[in-house]
Amino acid sequence: MNALVELRRRFVVALEGLADEPAALAEMILPSQDPRFGDYQANCAMPLGKKLGKPPREIATTLVERLVAAPGWESLCDPPEIAGPGFINLRLKDDGIAARLVTALADTERLGIVPVSAPRKYVLDYSSPNVAKPMHVGHIRSTVIGDALSRVLRFLGHQVITDNHIGDWGTQFGMIIYGYKHFVDTEALAAASVAELSRLYKLVNQIGEHQANLAEKRPALAEKIATQETRLAELATAPPTGDPKQDKQADKKRRQAEGTLADLRREQAELEAKIAAFLADARLSSLAAAHPAIGAAALAETAKLHTSDPENVGLWKRFLPACLEEIQQTYDRLRVTFDHTLGESFYHDRLAGVVEALQKKGLARESDGAQCVFLEGYEAPFIVQKKDGAYLYATTDLATIQYRMEEWAPDAVLYVVDHRQSLHFEQLFATARQIGYDDLELQHISFGTVLGEDGKPYKTRSGSAVGLMGLLDEAVERAGTLAAKSSVLETDTERAAVAERIGIGAIKYADLSHNRTSDYVFSYDKMLAMQGNTAAYMQYSVARVKSIFGRGGIDPETLRGDDATIALSNPAERALAMELLRFTEALARVAAEYKPNYLTAYLFDLAQRFAEFFEQCPVLKADDDATKASRLRLCDLTARTLEQGLALLGIRTVERM
Ligand code: ARG
Repeated sequence: MNALVELRRRFVVALEGLADEPAALAEMILPSQDPRFGDYQANCAMPLGKKLGKPPREIATTLVERLVAAPGWESLCDPPEIAGPGFINLRLKDDGIAARLVTALADTERLGIVPVSAPRKYVLDYSSPNVAKPMHVGHIRSTVIGDALSRVLRFLGHQVITDNHIGDWGTQFGMIIYGYKHFVDTEALAAASVAELSRLYKLVNQIGEHQANLAEKRPALAEKIATQETRLAELATAPPTGDPKQDKQADKKRRQAEGTLADLRREQAELEAKIAAFLADARLSSLAAAHPAIGAAALAETAKLHTSDPENVGLWKRFLPACLEEIQQTYDRLRVTFDHTLGESFYHDRLAGVVEALQKKGLARESDGAQCVFLEGYEAPFIVQKKDGAYLYATTDLATIQYRMEEWAPDAVLYVVDHRQSLHFEQLFATARQIGYDDLELQHISFGTVLGEDGKPYKTRSGSAVGLMGLLDEAVERAGTLAAKSSVLETDTERAAVAERIGIGAIKYADLSHNRTSDYVFSYDKMLAMQGNTAAYMQYSVARVKSIFGRGGIDPETLRGDDATIALSNPAERALAMELLRFTEALARVAAEYKPNYLTAYLFDLAQRFAEFFEQCPVLKADDDATKASRLRLCDLTARTLEQGLALLGIRTVERM
């Protein structure tokens, strides 16, 4: 059992009779921020004192008496200290720490980490790009976070089913089909089908966007500006009231309105520039003239696909393999795999049934011709069928829940999807609960936007969302410059292999090390830095620890026997040892909040504790053989913990760099 879990268990026993919810109070034992306050600190005496109307220190004293009297306490922990208003400081016994590490040392598979006692069954829905559109930087975040979560949950002993819910049935296929029927270059299609399909998609999309800009965006923006101008004129001509406070407020309002107007005008200028650029391209503007309302035409092709038009279904079947092959290349490069790839098309036959069932249960009803689920607390309904009979993203997601329950009966489904879809998932989950999936945990594992250095969503210079492959190539290329400077890498093959691991690792680590709920700035310089919380630093740390064994001509396996001992006489040794024990806590936190950044933060701390230890404690030149062997064991555990941690993030290490 890990030390924190054991402490909590003992607190639960000690709290008996004092508190109604001992388990919740025992959760209040946390790692100390400062080693002077011990290894862990329990803060439960304060809330308990308040509740019982007793001084917290008195409660802390009772707890400590009970803890110390329980069997086995003295081998686990020093006598607890009570500090300040009633904090209980807990310091683990060095021998106990060492014993746990010796167990970890001998456990080549799991580093002493005990699988959870109650394994759950998870379905993880991640990556899930819309195929036939180029995958972009936002999809890495989903792919990388989902992959890391699935690895951690599995390592902890849960059953995980990964499912790539690709968009393979949506409007983009209508666009490609339209493009194929009108603009295809047959030779290009035969030679490199994916490239030609993606050209067709982009072309139809570009024309459609232009036409929407003219027909919808431009007038809507003009109307907004007019409204804002009227409002501003009213504010500007309002006579002063004479009350300085009110006048000041009116002034503030006016300035805000001016700001909003300026923003709208800027938006208008950008839109006009876009329209002008499109029109300046003679080929594009003549295509737009020849294909008016291309968006509606593409939608009609999608509708024909959905109603089993043989030609469109044939084209879809012909194009899909190429699209899948394209995304597979990216997955191969990232070394990410899925148990299933059940795209939206897979659920097509279930959609009518889903709507019918909702109607029967009285959950869906007609509104403006559409079938809607009205949910408490939401202004807009959850629409499951449009007026024209078409089913929506929402319908497919409901069918997907139904299928997953029938097929796998999971305890939880996690959707790793960016934060812009949070309303969709809230409504989806609320609807699922109404249907009766009460015991199923449904979670939107939401993540923020990847930003460029300008603070706007990350784009390449050409303005398109960045293609994923190009992004990976550039990271690897830049990592190659790092590898070229290394004096230990000997051949070009070795340098290339190291560059691949550093480059791909850098991209993944950058995504994982930021709290997923926040946006983060994509910067090659930052992610490839050799110092700081980066993959390169972590990979370097592993290589450095391992090199100690090489230099000493020692095989770490020879130090892992039953008779192994670890001594913690130096504070830096002890600090490193404590950090090693915390691996299990970091993993538990990742699983509790579905946040991989707890693991990156832990690994970074561990690498730092190691650096401090290595500076203060000679290893190969230790005073005696026993100390040397003990320190080498700490090195071995550090290397293996870092390596295991990185592996759980989907990041490979290198032997040297
Ligand atoms: N294909 C969607 C997109 O790219 C994401 C799908 C997420 N998964 C789901 N079950 N809705 O936006």
